[in-house]
Amino acid sequence: MTQLWQALEAYAKSAVYPFHMPGHKGGRLGAFSHMMQQDITEIAGFDNLHSPQGILLEAQKRCASVFGAEESFFLINGSTAGILAAMMACCGEREEIILSRNCHRSVYSGLVFSGARPAYILPEMLKGKEFFGSITQKQVQNAVEMHPHARAVLLTSPTYEGITSDIESIAAFLHEKNMLLIVDEAHGAHMKFHPFFPKTALEQGADIVIQSLHKTLPSPTQTAVLHIQGKRVDRAKIKQALSMIQTSSPSYLFLSAMDACCHWLERQCQRDFECYVEKLQWFYERTKNLEQIAVLQKAGFDRDRGKIVLELPKKNMTAMEMNDMLRKQFAIEMEMASLSYSIAMTSPADSKEGFLVLAKALEKIDKQLCEAKKTVFLEDMVQEPSPVIKTTPREAYFAPKKEILFLESENHVCAEFIIPYPPGAPLLAPGEVITKEKIQKSILLQKAGICFVGCQDTALKTIAVLAERQ
Ligand SMILES: Cc1ncc(COP(=O)(O)O)c(C=O)c1O
Repeated sequence: MTQLWQALEAYAKSAVYPFHMPGHKGGRLGAFSHMMQQDITEIAGFDNLHSPQGILLEAQKRCASVFGAEESFFLINGSTAGILAAMMACCGEREEIILSRNCHRSVYSGLVFSGARPAYILPEMLKGKEFFGSITQKQVQNAVEMHPHARAVLLTSPTYEGITSDIESIAAFLHEKNMLLIVDEAHGAHMKFHPFFPKTALEQGADIVIQSLHKTLPSPTQTAVLHIQGKRVDRAKIKQALSMIQTSSPSYLFLSAMDACCHWLERQCQRDFECYVEKLQWFYERTKNLEQIAVLQKAGFDRDRGKIVLELPKKNMTAMEMNDMLRKQFAIEMEMASLSYSIAMTSPADSKEGFLVLAKALEKIDKQLCEAKKTVFLEDMVQEPSPVIKTTPREAYFAPKKEILFLESENHVCAEFIIPYPPGAPLLAPGEVITKEKIQKSILLQKAGICFVGCQDTALKTIAVLAERQ
């Protein structure tokens, strides 16, 4: 076990009386008492995440070495914290940052926090699919030509659906221009550990990479890491931003769990990854001849096949209905469902039985589907036009607002987020002009059962817009 774990264990078993936080006092009172024995605060010998010099510095160094970074930082508020810190460290008020439009909502929060002005790259929808493809080097090049003063580019790779972009050529191009590449690799923390998965953004030269350990590795929810390499990043600013964003009382349970995950990756993960990949390969082979359900293999530049994407190309039921069947008839809970596809999120902790149960369930549903009648899907998702940006998201966030009927909001400037969830990329962000197409698309998605987040009225009857027309 790790040095941190041993120290926490020794402290929990010692006779020392804790006149310090947290208030459960080693689990003497309150819920989860058995778990709280190692939940301490920054007492002597346990270092401080905001100025690490001892046991936590060593743990973060191990993390950097395991993932192939020059420096790594533990995040106890998920990749969200890393994304906010990276954006605040790289962009100042009104400075431009180039973003792929399908970024996670935390990136849009980063625009509000930093005051940066977004310039969007619109990824193309994959042909016949409801989700976005890769960002190409050419798209980045065009965006840089149009926005030569942008400080950085931030891309998501892999996406929720496992689609990666050619980070290597994008990084090489940006570095020639002395620009930074930040990669939201929240869904790719596992990729370095087996060649079955695409190369990581660090391996391909990105400057800052943010990964959620909790999504695809054995580590608890909220745990994530921010990695840095090269000389372009102002590391002092990253540290300062992280110190502002993260709690001043980071959980030692999370810190210790991240350290244990890195320890496992360093010493013991190889066999587990071999088994994991064997199980995935078995699953893809077993389900390749389904007739109604298409199990996505490769797509885009490269695809992380740890994310099992199930599509319904014949449109004879929605993926939400399929997930309902999986839940009710087969006791399987999936990660998400959109209209035409559903995702099973896998990890090295998945069992052979788990894959078998899913494969058998899909075979049964596939047979039932042959007789099922057609359902109405959204007709082919149209490629979004680039949003017209009137103010930065930060200015719109702080400006006086009024609430109006959503259906009557065309040509107003949006003052909040309209985010269909899943997958979580905004249709409208603060500061953007509301168009008729976006109103129609939101209503269609909502009628189809997609939830909306980021807005006051998630029923989409009303919307907050800027009080003054711009
Ligand atoms: C692409 C992407 N980036 C970032 C995040 C935020 O990650 P976390 O939940 O670790 O804060 C998510 C969460 O779902 C995500 O899908």
